[in-house]
Amino acid sequence: MNNARNDFPILSSTNRGKPLVYLDSASSAQKPKAVVEAMSSFYYKDYANIHRGIYELSERATKRFEETRAVVKQFIHAPDVNNIVFVKGTTEGMNLLASTLSQSWVAGDEVILSEMEHHSNIVPWVMLKEKLGIVLKIIPVTDEGALDLTLFESMLTPKTKLVSITHASNVLGTINPIKHITAIAHQHGVPVMIDGAQAAPHLSVDVQDLDCDFYVFSSHKCYGPTGVGVLYAKSPWLNAMPPYQGGGDMIETVAFDKVTYAKAPHKFEAGTPDIAGVIGLNAALQYLMQHNMQTIYEHEQQLLSYATNALMQIPGVRIIGTATPKLGVISFVMDGVHPHDMGTVLDAEGVAVRASHHCAMPLMTRFGVPATVRASFGIYNNTDDVDALIRAIHEIKRLFG
Ligand code: ALA
Repeated sequence: MNNARNDFPILSSTNRGKPLVYLDSASSAQKPKAVVEAMSSFYYKDYANIHRGIYELSERATKRFEETRAVVKQFIHAPDVNNIVFVKGTTEGMNLLASTLSQSWVAGDEVILSEMEHHSNIVPWVMLKEKLGIVLKIIPVTDEGALDLTLFESMLTPKTKLVSITHASNVLGTINPIKHITAIAHQHGVPVMIDGAQAAPHLSVDVQDLDCDFYVFSSHKCYGPTGVGVLYAKSPWLNAMPPYQGGGDMIETVAFDKVTYAKAPHKFEAGTPDIAGVIGLNAALQYLMQHNMQTIYEHEQQLLSYATNALMQIPGVRIIGTATPKLGVISFVMDGVHPHDMGTVLDAEGVAVRASHHCAMPLMTRFGVPATVRASFGIYNNTDDVDALIRAIHEIKRLFG
């Protein structure tokens, strides 16, 4: 997708004086001109607060903001715009769910997670465990990096309140069999929450086909601005869930002794939102859809296979996460060199990767490593980027013997 590269001016810049090789889209994706221009045109021409003004400018701003709901609906194949709640990001979406769903939970109620979850799908539930005494059950991960679902069905009990699981691992790249998981959970009357932060920018998501109850993802990994995310929920849940935060724009009537709330999704959108951010998300999702999610997926699969073959030929390099299907994410370690040292050398060579625990400490423990180096691909990457990575890894070998 070489034509996409030209849409991202930052890719012509440098890192430590070398041409930038950006291989950290799993952390955050770069922004195409269309996104920046949509946001600046909003600020220059259409800016006002939304849902409040009776003047034309506010109506224009409201229209541009609300149009994004229709674009998100199309992007994730949601049944209705009212299933789309704007949040700050995946993390806020998870916290919203943890906070609202748990209001009827008691000690001993259970939530099922997996060993490959990001901290954003672990910490809110651990906080509830500490507060309410809920029980967390963890689906293990195989040596290859797949979910071991052998015992999954037996983990579901009458006390299970939620299965909360990632669509794709930010470390291993593994794409999980969500439809299968959802079908089993639903047979036991248990709702399913999907963390789509990694999957949404890289494959076609159909929440109706997945049949998940909740799906959460972030704008910034989808080539949109930071500070915005989406919570999709099935309508009965949105109607039943209490508000998350109180304030302006989420009410029908307010008196000191009684408040009545707006209908979903507005019930969950207290205060002035990130209006420009939501408008930027609109441009980002349209940009992705113009390129076609299947084409993007295939492009990144080619890079994944090219990079995997090249890495496997370097003695001492071990890839963590070899299960299929997987996204264009490769985590690896090298004998005798700490991942942080590898990241430092890669940085000096202009190659931007993440070298850390990737906000997935339990998964690091599972694989017995302190951290990994992770290269992740986006719409703009090409085999030159992979070649630069491989050259820089040879430099690491030269430096560390
Ligand atoms: N969740 C982001 C990552 O995996 C920050 O890097």
